Amino acid sequence: MKIPLLSALVLGTLSLSSFAQDAAVDSNLLRQGEYLARAGDCVACHTNGKEGKPFAGGLSMETPIGAIYSTNITPDKTHGIGNYTFEEFDDAVRKGVRKDGSTLYPAMPYPSFARISEADMRAMYAYFMHGVQPQAQANRDSDIPWPLSMRWPLSIWRMMFAPEPKDFVMNTQADPVLERGRYLVEGLGHCGACHTPRSLTMQEKALSEKDGDDYLSGSNNPIDGWVASSLRSENRDGLGTWSEAELAEFLKTGRNDKSVVFGGMSDVVEHSLQYLSDDDITAISRYLKSLPPRGGKQTPAPVEDSVAKDLWKGNDSKPGASLYVDNCAACHRTDGVGYKRAFPALKGNPVVQTEDATSLIHIILTGSTTPAVKGAVSNLTMPSFGWRLDDQQVADVTNFIRSSWGNKAPPVTASDVAKVRKDKTLTHDGKALGNADISKLPAQ
Ligand code: HEC
Ligand code: HEC
Ligand code: HEC
Repeated sequence: MKIPLLSALVLGTLSLSSFAQDAAVDSNLLRQGEYLARAGDCVACHTNGKEGKPFAGGLSMETPIGAIYSTNITPDKTHGIGNYTFEEFDDAVRKGVRKDGSTLYPAMPYPSFARISEADMRAMYAYFMHGVQPQAQANRDSDIPWPLSMRWPLSIWRMMFAPEPKDFVMNTQADPVLERGRYLVEGLGHCGACHTPRSLTMQEKALSEKDGDDYLSGSNNPIDGWVASSLRSENRDGLGTWSEAELAEFLKTGRNDKSVVFGGMSDVVEHSLQYLSDDDITAISRYLKSLPPRGGKQTPAPVEDSVAKDLWKGNDSKPGASLYVDNCAACHRTDGVGYKRAFPALKGNPVVQTEDATSLIHIILTGSTTPAVKGAVSNLTMPSFGWRLDDQQVADVTNFIRSSWGNKAPPVTASDVAKVRKDKTLTHDGKALGNADISKLPAQ
């Protein structure tokens, strides 16, 4: 719904701080800019956690050579981007070039943002200049030591791997819904930043479907200990068995009959996707459903095995089965189908069958809480098991769910579990991992 808010804005801003006084800005443009900033999830990276001031930066991000910090993008003239012209803002967001001419780290996803249209950039510029509260918060220098901290090699990286905004034109011949979905997924939504595998030189192997079917085929590098699974149409470890409606429901609310969101994707749903219009959610879903499985080859749909029946009859002789019955079946049930929209199904779940099991091991060790979103407010919690199951037990129960009810995925070992457990960045509460942790670790 669009309300002509100009008069309300002018009236309401007479007594307000300087940032709103020049609000002879079209309020529809501001709202559009705010909406687009949500679609780009700018707030997630440019705010330092739940306590941080919105868009004031300071969030630490790990790179292979040290931590960097996101910057203050509020209109504060000293610490933020209040002095940026439209061209300077545009260069930073779509080209990765700062006001001072240096190149940004691609932790800022400008290779995807290059696809944003100029009209959308202008709306976002209006929003960041006039709709965001300025914050006088200084930027932090990166922890990357000299000489690695020199930025000129980044400009070479940028010239080799980042596309130019002018390279993109909308295909006016194609289905407009599909094209809208493509625009949002490949551009502002930067879904590939997590869901596309990267090369050794850290660029995404494909920035769009045109670059090949690595695009959105699942990350090959856990980010903060979570692996983003394939968004293509593979039956086992992709979205092949999800309907467009199920996918839309997941994106909008973080849950559907088959799965419940967790890990890095929780933030995306909480800060970004839940605010998108139903039309845009449909567009994104339709576009994702149009992506064929990687390699063009489809694996057969899973075939039910006898595990559910065996557990039901009290036969838990399969390795990991008794651990599953004792620790997991109360919520995920012996037949692995869980409870719709509350406790996710493990049977047929792509995340359970993704080749890299890091996300699985991670969620079993640390547990997780479903984010509350509009229309689905209850937060449900999966308890942590790191404190009571040792590495071998976690491996056994992981292998059990990866090989039961028709699921099929390569097994993991106790040392795979130890590796995830040892990564101290994964949990802020060391206690969650408990003694099962310390006693099993080799002396350092
Ligand atoms: C995945 C994380 C991430 C997302 C999403 C993100 N940014 Fe950034 N952004 C960063 C990081 C990190 C930097 C600083 C990089 C550096 O220091 O080289 C940055 C830098 C910038 C800069 C440059 C500021 C300066 O110092 O010149 C601007 C402008 C900016 N971002 C705007 C945006 C906007 C607008 C959005 C949403 C459309 C957005 N960012 C989304 C991580 C992100
Ligand atoms: C910050 C990293 C990140 C970004 C950005 C991101 N995702 Fe995800 N996504 C993940 C992770 C990690 C998972 C696995 C956890 C889960 O399934 O909830 C995931 C899971 C999913 C799933 C569920 C897959 C399944 O099999 O259960 C869908 C659908 C999805 N993402 C869509 C998207 C779309 C669409 C975008 C862009 C608008 C996007 N993601 C952007 C990290 C990300
Ligand atoms: C008290 C109920 C409960 C118990 C017990 C429980 N879980 Fe969960 N599980 C959940 C909830 C709730 C989620 C969704 C978490 C989220 O969204 O952050 C979940 C998510 C998961 C997921 C991610 C799947 C997806 O699509 O979201 C896996 C895998 C999983 N649990 C495995 C297990 C295993 C293995 C055990 C036993 C060791 C177990 N769970 C015990 C409630 C439970």
